[in-house]
Amino acid sequence: MRVDFLLTGAGQLITCDPRLGDGPLGLVEGGAVAAAGGLVVFAGPEAALPELEVDRDAVRLDAGGRGVLPGFVDAHTHLVFAGERADEFAARLRGVGYEEALAAGGGINRTVRETRAASDAELEATAATRLDTALRYGTTTLEAKSGYGLTVDDERRSLEVLARLAARSPVEVVPTFLGAHLIPEEYAGDRDGYLDLLEHEMLPVCAPLAEFVDAFCDRGALTVEESRRVLVAGAGHGLRTKLHANELGSTGGAALAAELGCVSADHLLFCDDAEARAMAAAGTVAVLLPGTSFLLRTGRAAPAQVLRDAGVTMALGTDCNPGTCYCESMQLMVALACVHGGLTPEEAVLAATDGAARAVGRGARAGRLAPGAACDLVVLAGRSYLDLAYHLGVNLAERVVKGGTVVAGP
Ligand code: NIG
Ligand code: FE
Repeated sequence: MRVDFLLTGAGQLITCDPRLGDGPLGLVEGGAVAAAGGLVVFAGPEAALPELEVDRDAVRLDAGGRGVLPGFVDAHTHLVFAGERADEFAARLRGVGYEEALAAGGGINRTVRETRAASDAELEATAATRLDTALRYGTTTLEAKSGYGLTVDDERRSLEVLARLAARSPVEVVPTFLGAHLIPEEYAGDRDGYLDLLEHEMLPVCAPLAEFVDAFCDRGALTVEESRRVLVAGAGHGLRTKLHANELGSTGGAALAAELGCVSADHLLFCDDAEARAMAAAGTVAVLLPGTSFLLRTGRAAPAQVLRDAGVTMALGTDCNPGTCYCESMQLMVALACVHGGLTPEEAVLAATDGAARAVGRGARAGRLAPGAACDLVVLAGRSYLDLAYHLGVNLAERVVKGGTVVAGP
């Protein structure tokens, strides 16, 4: 077997494929990974490596006994925006609620105004910096939404920025059209008018630039019926569906996501047994965003036990956005999912890799180190995946590999 990438010396190799090793993480002690043309051809015990013909200029890595896991998949970000809202964050610490700020013209509306005013170059440069940070923290696939433009031109611009980033960054970017992030201020008295615009003018322009359509179905944002209209229209343009659901209240989003067979329902701070069972039956992945609930200080997390009992696949994302969670680190999300979200470390690591890959339509292709999957991996600074929850607040991604090439680290 001819290969152009060979990693040996993984003290712990986390394959995220239970067929390849122990437990849900498919853990192998003393592991090796071989790849050709960017795809894994072998992942398992070094002692079981098949006969290999290693190219002369192959990438050869010695993990030196450290832990190795699949590159993180960030299942939910709002990467393209202008400006920041640190002052709103500070006001929140003093007790001003998120919904209060939104209703007062701040929140998403404020970022929409700043995004519309920003040049293409500014939007691209700031998003590129965030994407590069995510990469250095081990993210090799990242979903990113538009949603701070909310005009035909500005939504298109955001998706075009994502296309340019995808072309220039090693990170695989999965673009989502979120023209339904909010009904913009200028349509406050004509909500249907905005949805008409979205359906008849935005979608034809934006759908070719996106893979998914999403809507913010929640209190103060879109209703269930409005969200249904957006997702059905998006699906009519060939987009797969996602939904911001049940973040601020028990607003029927999770049930709608299940009913429409959405690929994912995201946030889910409120989710009861029936909703979880419906999601499991529909194969809808639950994207948990523990950074958001932590920074909003909601005092609650998505109900892990309810989702677990129903057999819902769990995924993690940063939700990287200027309002509720300005963070690019999936490592921190793993820690928060464990400490605040009630996930086991194994569940959290699986959710940040294989689960998140499923949530962005990359199941079996990303988020695992198994034959046929992309050779995207992280060599940790420490020996164990447990460090991700335990050794907090530092970057544990010593080296990041995308498609068999070292893209961050020495
Ligand atoms: O996922 N929930 C909706 N959208 C973002 C927040 C966006 C913002 O506040 O700018 C979220 O939390
Ligand atoms: Fe979000």
